[in-house]
This record gives sequence, C-alpha cells and structure tokens, in this order.
Amino acid sequence: MTGTREIPSELRGSSFGQDFAWGAATAAYQIEGAWNADGKGPSIWDEFSRKGKIRNRDRGDEACDHYHRFAQDVALMRELGLGAYRFSISWPRLLPEGTLSGGVNRKGLDFYRRLAEALLEAGIKPWATLYHWDLPLALEQRGGWASRDIVNWFSDYAALCVRELGDLIPNWIVLNEPFIFLLLGYGIGYHAPSRRGLRRFLRASHYTLLAQGRAARAMQAEKSGLHLGTTVSTLAGYPASDSPKDLAALASHDAFFNRLYVDPVFGRGYPAGELPMLRGVDRYVEANDLQEIQFPFQFLGINHYSRKIVRRAWWMPYLRFRELRPAKTAEKTAMGWEIHPEGLFQILKKFGSYGEIPALYITENGAAFPDVVSSDGKVHDPERIRYLEGYLTQALRAKNEGVNLKGYFVWSLLDNLEWREGFAKRFGIIHVDFETKKRTPKDSAAWYAAMIRR
Ligand code: FCB
Repeated sequence: MTGTREIPSELRGSSFGQDFAWGAATAAYQIEGAWNADGKGPSIWDEFSRKGKIRNRDRGDEACDHYHRFAQDVALMRELGLGAYRFSISWPRLLPEGTLSGGVNRKGLDFYRRLAEALLEAGIKPWATLYHWDLPLALEQRGGWASRDIVNWFSDYAALCVRELGDLIPNWIVLNEPFIFLLLGYGIGYHAPSRRGLRRFLRASHYTLLAQGRAARAMQAEKSGLHLGTTVSTLAGYPASDSPKDLAALASHDAFFNRLYVDPVFGRGYPAGELPMLRGVDRYVEANDLQEIQFPFQFLGINHYSRKIVRRAWWMPYLRFRELRPAKTAEKTAMGWEIHPEGLFQILKKFGSYGEIPALYITENGAAFPDVVSSDGKVHDPERIRYLEGYLTQALRAKNEGVNLKGYFVWSLLDNLEWREGFAKRFGIIHVDFETKKRTPKDSAAWYAAMIRR
C-alpha cells in the first residue's frame, strides 16, 4: 500500500542517509485535551478559547484526547515505521502556576514519562519541544513574555523538564516559532494572549531570546550530552521584480520573517541594517544580554509551509514592504497558503550557509486540506501526497547540494486544533473524528510510510 500515488524513484528514505530522522510532529494544546485533568493549570489558550475567540467557538478542552489515548497513537506511529516523534510539553501541566514555588504537578510529569517510555519501547525517538505556545495563564497575568521575569520562569521550567525527563528524552527543542507567538500574540493580538503594540512585540522578542539562552544553559547544566536545538518559522520570499527597491524590500522581509530570531542567537546580532525598526529593541537591551542570547545549539529546526512575493511599499508603517496575493492560478492549501516547494530549497540553502549552525532539521512541513472519510472508510488525500512529494524532493535537492539536513517531521501526525482556525483545518496524515475521537490513517500516511521504508 503506498497511497494513491506512485513514489518517484529518487524519493526514498535511504536517499537521505541511514541516520536521517523520519518523524511526525504535534503540539500539546492542539492534541492533548484534558485541559484541567489531574491538576493541570490553565494556559493562555484555555482562556482565549473560553472567550470564544477560536473559529466556531472551538476549544481544545478535549481535542484529540491524546492525553488518554497516547498508547494508541504511539501504536499508530509504530505501524507507520516512524523513527522519531516531536511533541511539546505543556508548561501548565507541569507547573500549574508557572513557577516552582506554585508547586510541581507530579501527575503531569508522569504523563510525559509514560509517553516517552511508550515511544522508546516502540523504537521511536522522543523529541520534546519545551514551549509550543501554551503559556501558564498565571504567568501571563504577571506580564508573560513581555516581562523580563520570564527569563527566570522559563529557565526554571526548562531545568525541571530535563531533571525529570532527561533520562528518557535525548532531543530537545527549546522554542517553537518565536516569530509567530510573539507577532500574533503580543504584536497584533490575533492569537493568545491577544496583546498588541510594536513596543510590546519588540520587548517580548528580546526577553524571549534571553529566556531561550538562559534556559538552554540551565538544561545543559542539568544534564550533559543533550541534543539541543530550537525551532523557527520560515517563509520563502521572492521579489516582485528585479528593481533595487523590490530587492531591498525582500531583504527587509527576510530579516523580519526569517532572521530576527536566528541571527542574534548565532552571534550576528539583530538584523536592523535591513529592517531599521528593529533598533527599537535597543531600549530593552541590558549589559551582557547579547552574549546571553547566544547559544551554540547543535541544530536549528526549520518549520516551513509556503512562500510570498514581496514588493516595496514605502507607505507601510515600519516594514516598508508588502506581500502580494498569490496569483489566481497558484496552487494553495486550505489555509490559502501557496504551494511552492522550491521555497524550502531556498530556505535550507540560506541557513545551511550559516557556518555557526551545525545541522538543520525540518521540524514541520505539511498542508491542510478538507479531508473526509469516504464511503470505503478511507481518507483519500492526493493533494497532500503531492505536497509532501514536492517539498521532500526539494529537501533532498538541498541535502545533495551539501546542506547538513538530518531529519524531517511532517506536520502533523493527527488532525488537530489549528489554533485560531479551530478544528476545520486538517493537517494530519491521520484523520481524527473529533466527536468519536476515531483515528483513520489517510492515504498520505501510507505514502509516507512507504517512502520511509524504501
Ligand atoms: C505552525 C505551528 C503549528 C501548526 C502549523 C500549521 O506555525 O507551529 O503548531 O499550527 O503552523
């Protein structure tokens, strides 16, 4: 069984090398449910959803009920032949009030221990993300990522995770997509915690990077030999024309969408040359901060979905560029995101050329389509198969051109709660009926399994 589409001959697991990590990714709030079970505290997303801010007033209270069904999900992963699984740890499940002084929830820790043990037993390597957006609500009430105190709150939490779970989990990703949770959460208020303002966004950005550096050091101090990295969102940009103005606009776009949370970490500083509004960060920078932000991560995780065409727009406040709408003829996913696999190649080449970054992993890539269970009981998703084939082909191309790409995680293992878009946007290679919680592997799951196996 390979799904409905023939796999191109060059695309085989083995072409990526024997030790290439083949996996799937998820995040706690999107799949776990059990939002207040066994002593878990509320997160900013629990609050946001209670205010009815998610499309269709959806809430992650139950989601995929992975908290209670993880054993079944691990069994499905094993059937697919996955070698790795990327999940996130819910901070308020371990620390209901966000801090150690508020008490550690042993039952929360037990859940992640049992999950990691089940994975190891199935021969699947656990990859844990420390922060995939579900900040303890109690900490948001004290300023959240826009407070400098987050540096201590987050590094205490990071050390706790390694202390309690480091014997089972070798691979750690400190943050997931700071750009998205900071811009949407603290800049424009589209995501939890619905805060706004350029200054707040810049301040929170700086404290987040500082918190990341401190956390990584705390983790390392807790246990040596960890495989430590962090994950950023990326967007491939193409200029609307070859004019110097559009090329300069593209450089600003790249600084904003791709480099802002990477360059300072690897000692290159904030990319304010290409995006002068980033000088606004300076007022929050204290002595030694820029050193503390730097950390020799062993890998950078790349999340990648789409591309944009960029044009100079002098009237756009702060940015001075705008993104064009995809052409009518462009292929798009259910998110409206243009499908353009070559963009992944471009991004991998870019970060592959940073000498300070030893290795890259694609920690998310995938697509939403309006999948349904058909009368034969199966889920036929040829568009997703085509999407994966296109992007994996470009990943292989980058690897063959010398980029040290060491793994790929499809987003996502399961259909789940797509943040503000709710349950309507299905990204899984496994279909989930959100009423019955029934799992049905889609054709793309069979395709992915066959590709890995080859
Ligand atoms: C990324 C998020 C992930 C998922 C995908 C579609 O920005 O990290 O949780 O929502 O987008």
